[in-house]
Amino acid sequence: MRILSIETSCDETALALVEAEGGLSRPKFKVVKNLIASQIKIHAPFGGVVPNLAKREHLKNLPILFKKLFPKPEAAKFDIVTATVGPGLEPALWTGINFAKEVAKQYKKPLIGANHLEGHLYSFLLSKKTAISNSKFLISKIFPAIALIVSGGHTILLLVKNLKSWKKLGETRDDAVGEAFDKVARLLKLPYPGGPEIQKLALYGNPNAIDFPRPMIYDKSYDFSFSGLKTSVLYYLRDNSKTRKADIAASFEQAAVDVLVKKTTRAAKEFGAKSIMLSGGVASNSLLRKRLKVVSHQLSVNFLAAPAKFNTDNAAMIAEAGYFTYLRKKKYKLAAQGNLNI
Ligand code: KG4
Ligand code: ZN
Repeated sequence: MRILSIETSCDETALALVEAEGGLSRPKFKVVKNLIASQIKIHAPFGGVVPNLAKREHLKNLPILFKKLFPKPEAAKFDIVTATVGPGLEPALWTGINFAKEVAKQYKKPLIGANHLEGHLYSFLLSKKTAISNSKFLISKIFPAIALIVSGGHTILLLVKNLKSWKKLGETRDDAVGEAFDKVARLLKLPYPGGPEIQKLALYGNPNAIDFPRPMIYDKSYDFSFSGLKTSVLYYLRDNSKTRKADIAASFEQAAVDVLVKKTTRAAKEFGAKSIMLSGGVASNSLLRKRLKVVSHQLSVNFLAAPAKFNTDNAAMIAEAGYFTYLRKKKYKLAAQGNLNI
């Protein structure tokens, strides 16, 4: 099955063409084309995403990317169209949904609404390790899994029973971890988006220089909280203006990663997980990846994550979400749902 997928939930306009086969028991994906028009430069002067600017840019970029995907639109071949319906910024989501509706009508193909967070969750299936060509990989051997989804809008820990059922163990009670990276970066006068900038700067810093709080690390729930950590950085900067920025970045990164790793490890042990899955924009963070890889090794569980380019928002992961939604016969309303849950 060839899937045309569309993602416009935030500040990336993304279109992909993905081949899927194998169903829920032996899923296999081949990314034929993966196109992204990033709006980072447009939002950077504002230090964050401006919803109406995002909408305007999506409207401009969607037809351009479609033309790039199919230089001869009359020869375009796909079996289903899928678009993100949520969660995300509603004005931005609508642009992708409406564009998908038009395309589905014009080509007379079914339109499937996709959940952005399911896209992140399933993104591990875009790695070489999970390709069916790797004979060692068996989908039946990876569950139950603990999945950590960490992005600019979400911090969620899931117990994943199989490809169609999971239970939320916990989530952030305030800021998402990516949001905390972005806000701390702003305090340090680094450009937007801040996550990759903090990571770069942290390389030159001492992660033990400042003992920032690890919010809720010993709390018995699987919830997170990152706004207090961000505020500690704010106060620290106010009172210690001479501290090296690199030390602040490294100490902040270490504190945030400590909490994520601690709770993920505890959940993996408690539920006897066979895998730890990591996804979302913050999954590109090399310290977080490294630490979770070490833990997975120690616990003898699989560490499953997509290559970095499929961690930040993209449409290839939306094709996966659309494929599984179609197979599960689940129907998401074809309307923007800003707060859609996983
Ligand atoms: O998944 P994503 O592209 O968009 C959302 O769905 O939110 O995630 C974007 C988030 C931003 O907050 C960005 O700063 C963060 O991911 N991020 C990182 C890194 N790369 C991206 N955070 C920490 N370290 C990174 N290397
Ligand atoms: Zn995302």
